[in-house]
Amino acid sequence: MNNKAPIGIFDSGVGGTSIWKEIHKQLPHEATIYLADSINAPYGNKTKEEILSLCIKNTEHLISLGCKIIIIACNTATTNAITYLRNHYQIAFIGIEPAIKPAALMSKTSSIGILATKGTLSSELFVETSKALALNIKITEVVGEGLVKLIENGEIASPQTTVLLKKYLEPMLAANIDYLVLGCSHYPYLIEQLKKLLPDNIQIIDSGQAVARQTQLVLSSNDLLSTSLIKTKT
Ligand code: DGL
Repeated sequence: MNNKAPIGIFDSGVGGTSIWKEIHKQLPHEATIYLADSINAPYGNKTKEEILSLCIKNTEHLISLGCKIIIIACNTATTNAITYLRNHYQIAFIGIEPAIKPAALMSKTSSIGILATKGTLSSELFVETSKALALNIKITEVVGEGLVKLIENGEIASPQTTVLLKKYLEPMLAANIDYLVLGCSHYPYLIEQLKKLLPDNIQIIDSGQAVARQTQLVLSSNDLLSTSLIKTKT
């Protein structure tokens, strides 16, 4: 595999560009191909089988374009399909999972909130991880029903989005959380809105930087880091 080959990134839509931004910041010498499967968005309410079959299609497309590694920039896709993909394709995969572990470790109120899709919160991978952490900490899980569609439509600050966010934050505020985990790669686009609705003592945490760091590590250990700046044609 050529180290100048592009990094392939996919998501159900525009959400994974929040991850792409971090990749570009931390690995500016890398070429990237971003696949937004917007026609099939949202993934969050689909069955595991449907999510898996879309992930296989996205993976095969990125492999056919010569990618050297694939970033699944979608929590729903990662938690439902990464094990299968790793077992069936030779290419390395980087996934994204809700950052509940760091939030649980840093929480002083021993109470954290997570906003994610139904597909992520009900996945085996997420249920197992949260079960282990829930022994020491209270985790308030809320499905962000409808948010992905609004973000895909560019309605980041619309009244409808604010109404939904207020509703979803209510049980978390009642549980005295001090960390809000964004468990969907679309949600970082709501950070400004969320900050307006949350008291100052609540930190918002997402997984973008961690994914970029992990990508760098895996590329470097496989000797696949691109070292030269990409020249763009003008
Ligand atoms: N951006 C996605 C995630 O991280 C998928 C959301 C969806 O399509 O429902 O979960």
